[in-house]
Amino acid sequence: MKVLVTGGAGYIGTHTLVELIAAGHEVVVYDNFCNSSPKAIGRVEELVGQEVPVVRGDIRDRACLDRAFAEHSAEAVIHFAGLKAVGESYRQPLSYYDNNVTGTQRLLEAMEDAGVRTIVFSSSATVYGEDAPVPYVESMGRGRPSNPYGGTKAVVEQMIEDLVRADDRWSASLLRYFNPIGAHPSGRIGEDPQGVPNNLMPFLTQVAVGRLPELSIFGDDYLTRDGTCERDYLHVVDLALGHLKALEAKSAPGVAAFNLGTGKGTSVLEMVATFESVTGQQIPYCIAPRRAGDLPASWADASKARLELGWSAEKTLEDMMRDSWRWQSANPEGYGG
Ligand code: NAD
Ligand code: UFG
Repeated sequence: MKVLVTGGAGYIGTHTLVELIAAGHEVVVYDNFCNSSPKAIGRVEELVGQEVPVVRGDIRDRACLDRAFAEHSAEAVIHFAGLKAVGESYRQPLSYYDNNVTGTQRLLEAMEDAGVRTIVFSSSATVYGEDAPVPYVESMGRGRPSNPYGGTKAVVEQMIEDLVRADDRWSASLLRYFNPIGAHPSGRIGEDPQGVPNNLMPFLTQVAVGRLPELSIFGDDYLTRDGTCERDYLHVVDLALGHLKALEAKSAPGVAAFNLGTGKGTSVLEMVATFESVTGQQIPYCIAPRRAGDLPASWADASKARLELGWSAEKTLEDMMRDSWRWQSANPEGYGG
């Protein structure tokens, strides 16, 4: 199948390109590089041994989207493009709604006009909202968004559901990711956040590599096993493979949401201890106040994806730690090094 991959130069997009090409699919990347580097595409090309076509464009640019569909005759879209920093979304909500919601609307309109009606969308566990009990199950429906970024994901899910209901030629998978970490086992592609990382794993590896002095653990007084927050971390390669399963399952019309997680929560202190034991690196850390908006615990009920897509996360937390560290230690400055 020929797949247009919006946001294909980003963290999850690059890993998905590698798995798509390995499975025999053709790809074309559509990215404006606002949070990624063209070097990442070069690394993907090196891994897959072939050229990866790229359209440099914004998903809000309808004319550019139309040209991409006309020139590349894609049959499906995997839609990663969007802004994802929760903290920034509080400060710049309109920019988040513009990129994530208006951008997706433009993309869906261009798809409609090009007759491309299969989409796999990057959603997030955040759509379950702040009051949902763990584990999160798809049948719960969406809750009250805990931040503007989560609000954009919920609106886009709704928009896609409404579209599919109005026209049964569409087929859509809403993939609700839990916490993707890790990197390709080659160490050639991985997560390369701009500035100081917001997320735990890149922060931790940047402390280990000496770019940052110590990790602040945001709160140790939650009602969890050891007082620190628990999350469902999954390997980015497993996550990439989930997109293939969703794409290959989507010959039938309709819309369906799937949790992509392991079904297991790990605390921040357990993350630090596992990283230290796998890599032999010591992580200096301190206990800091809670971070606003953090939920005590979030993990998936991952049975729907297993039963309906035949997908489950295979890699262990140790694999995630080893691969994150291989990437960070070989590329201390990310793609900028
Ligand atoms: P990323 O920032 O590494 O990748 C996103 C890519 O989209 C980047 O290459 C960026 O340049 C591009 N992009 C952004 N806005 C664009 C626009 N308007 N037009 C064209 N390209 C644009 O992020 P990621 O971690 O790979 O996440 C991919 C998707 O998965 C995002 O939609 C994100 O919200 C979602 N998601 C990520 C996580 C996570 O923890 N990484 C969790 C849940 C959901
Ligand atoms: N944490 C620290 N110190 C840090 C960074 C994080 O202690 O420097 C802790 C957080 O408090 C949290 C855990 O590590 O308990 C994981 O934090 P991340 O920022 O890595 O991940 P989140 O679960 O907060 O965020 C993720 C996605 C968002 C999504 C959100 C809600 O990155 O896209 O889940 O579903 F919106």
